[in-house]
Amino acid sequence: MTFDFSGKLALITGGARGIGKAIALAFASKNAVVVLFDIIEQEAKSVIKEIEEKGGRGEFYKVDVSNLEEVKEAVSGLLSKYGKVDILVNNAGIVYTKPFVECLPEGWTKVIAVNLMGVFNTCYAVFPKMLERRYGKIINIASVAGKRGGGIFGNSIYAASKGGVIAFTKALAREGGPYGINVNAICPGPTETRMLEGFPDDKRKSFIETIPLRRFGKPEDIAFAVLFLASDYADFITGEIMDVDGGIMMD
Ligand SMILES: NC(=O)c1ccc[n+]([C@@H]2O[C@H](COP(=O)([O-])OP(=O)(O)OC[C@H]3O[C@@H](n4cnc5c(N)ncnc54)[C@H](O)[C@@H]3O)[C@@H](O)[C@H]2O)c1
Repeated sequence: MTFDFSGKLALITGGARGIGKAIALAFASKNAVVVLFDIIEQEAKSVIKEIEEKGGRGEFYKVDVSNLEEVKEAVSGLLSKYGKVDILVNNAGIVYTKPFVECLPEGWTKVIAVNLMGVFNTCYAVFPKMLERRYGKIINIASVAGKRGGGIFGNSIYAASKGGVIAFTKALAREGGPYGINVNAICPGPTETRMLEGFPDDKRKSFIETIPLRRFGKPEDIAFAVLFLASDYADFITGEIMDVDGGIMMD
């Protein structure tokens, strides 16, 4: 049993900044080879540079997760080079905050395409090899919004996309279980990243008062939970939807 990921390949979507960057750096610090799929090139390259400067190994592929062809092509390149993907973290996501009646169909199509279909796409490309190898750890980043129907930030469409991720996680966990593949999700509460920019200061203060641990999350809080779920210590955990939210969702 170990928290050392030497010899493991961790693919992280949306790893260029925010929570995904913290996840990438956490895996690199535990000796995994880290691969990022993202659409923002400069930030992603600087994460890889940081990993390499610390003696780690990393690679960036410019991939829009909502585009199945791009995902398939990049995964096929990865599989020819490394022969496997041990860990897949589906973290790429976008937020949409308009009230439902002000939402535009193009807007909701985009949110579903990135947040939900993006997860289908990477799993579709990676899962067959995991089945063949009888090994895999998939961790999907959902949101408390997917459990409580939004309400903190993000709207109905965002909540629906994350609710879909939660249901998909459980369904894939059932399919992967007999093959030694663990599929779990994490539901972050509000976490200090660019996604929270625009959350007004007065609302922020009053919201924090309602959080049992009295703060918003840090990207590292989510990254540590991901490391645990990807580790051998979590071998008997699958289909779990883990809140990392300072206690917001406790009954
Ligand atoms: N920050 C929060 O409060 C919070 C709360 C709950 C859940 N989440 C979830 O955590 C995840 C990470 O969010 P964050 O707060 O770090 O946001 P962020 O905006 O800082 O980072 C999102 C990353 O995803 C990438 N991305 C966006 N669309 C993409 C696409 N089509 N293909 C590939 N990459 C794409 C972005 O370029 C960026 O690097 C998201 O799934 C988000 O929904 C965030």
